[in-house]
Amino acid sequence: MKNKKLIKNICVTGGAGYIGAHFVNKLNLTKKFYIYVLDNFQQGKKNIIKDKNINYYNIDLKNKNKLNKFFKSKKVDLVAHFAALASVPDSVKNPADYYANNIIGGLNLLEAMIKNNINKIIFSSSAAIYGEPKTKFIKENHPKNPTNPYGYTKLVFENFLIDYNKAYGLNSISFRYFCASGVDESQTIGEYHNPENHIIPVLIETALGLRKKFYVYGHNFPTKDGTGIRDYIHVNDLAEAHILAIKKLQTKNICEFYNLGINKGYSVLDLIKTTEKITGLKIKYEFVNRRPGDPSQLIADSSLAYKKLGWQPKYRKIEQIIKTTFDYKLKNTT
Ligand SMILES: NC(=O)c1ccc[n+]([C@@H]2O[C@H](COP(=O)([O-])OP(=O)(O)OC[C@H]3O[C@@H](n4cnc5c(N)ncnc54)[C@H](O)[C@@H]3O)[C@@H](O)[C@H]2O)c1
Repeated sequence: MKNKKLIKNICVTGGAGYIGAHFVNKLNLTKKFYIYVLDNFQQGKKNIIKDKNINYYNIDLKNKNKLNKFFKSKKVDLVAHFAALASVPDSVKNPADYYANNIIGGLNLLEAMIKNNINKIIFSSSAAIYGEPKTKFIKENHPKNPTNPYGYTKLVFENFLIDYNKAYGLNSISFRYFCASGVDESQTIGEYHNPENHIIPVLIETALGLRKKFYVYGHNFPTKDGTGIRDYIHVNDLAEAHILAIKKLQTKNICEFYNLGINKGYSVLDLIKTTEKITGLKIKYEFVNRRPGDPSQLIADSSLAYKKLGWQPKYRKIEQIIKTTFDYKLKNTT
């Protein structure tokens, strides 16, 4: 059955954050949509992309009344839901914040959407839902046993989407991102978590002398060199997948889940070496204990997204990804 109503107005929760802003940028370049960004600006930057087609609203998803008022007063055809607290170690320390923000905030969002007849959503899920891998490459049907509260909140929201599809006809595409990384070549939007805890910007900050040393959390994982292995996917490739998802949600009634990664894993030591090569600078590092909640390895099998969405990552080399972040950091720290 076709979802005939043309998608024109898109609400992007968390659209002022790192990945959300990259998506807003790509979406705006299509010149096909009117964009509402909802963010509490706890992390994100207000008006990071300035254009007459983008409007920023300071709304916290935990504030049910404000959220309902917003959706009642605006015409929204689809929601791209990026807003979340998103740090694994922080979620282990402060699980209550994660449950309140990601689960209750997420539920408020779904409720407001259903009340106002908005039936399409794209959700930023995570590889953290899988937990410790049973196979080298993780497919979508891999068992889901998150090892930290953050991953658990993402899994709970995915389950909401399944139930809301059956009960209320809510259509959704959930993307399970592996490690989002890199920045847009325009260098207008960067990676700006506060505090920054993403490995590539932290490595670059260490190389540039902005941090004394880099801490390698764990050197006894069951991996080739004992350090954790991740699949690094460029933010622009994530943004492109969302554009394809809008197209699919335009024509189909669905509830689908896709991995987004490059199907290749890099260890922490691989990243240190490559960052030294790209920057031409030495990185001082020290091995420390593993952090609770960190799986040893997460590598995607993204073949389903290739096949069903026609998505293909363009940034397949870690060197390209590190270079985009390095260029951004150079421009923004000197
Ligand atoms: N960065 C990654 O590697 C990664 C990997 C997998 C999944 N994800 C998911 O992608 C999404 C975006 O991640 P990011 O790295 O851009 O994080 P980010 O912190 O840069 O962006 C999240 C944005 O959401 C906003 N926000 C958080 N809670 C909110 C609330 N209750 N109400 C309104 N706004 C709120 C923040 O202010 C921020 O602007 C998150 O859902 C995250 O879980 C990220």
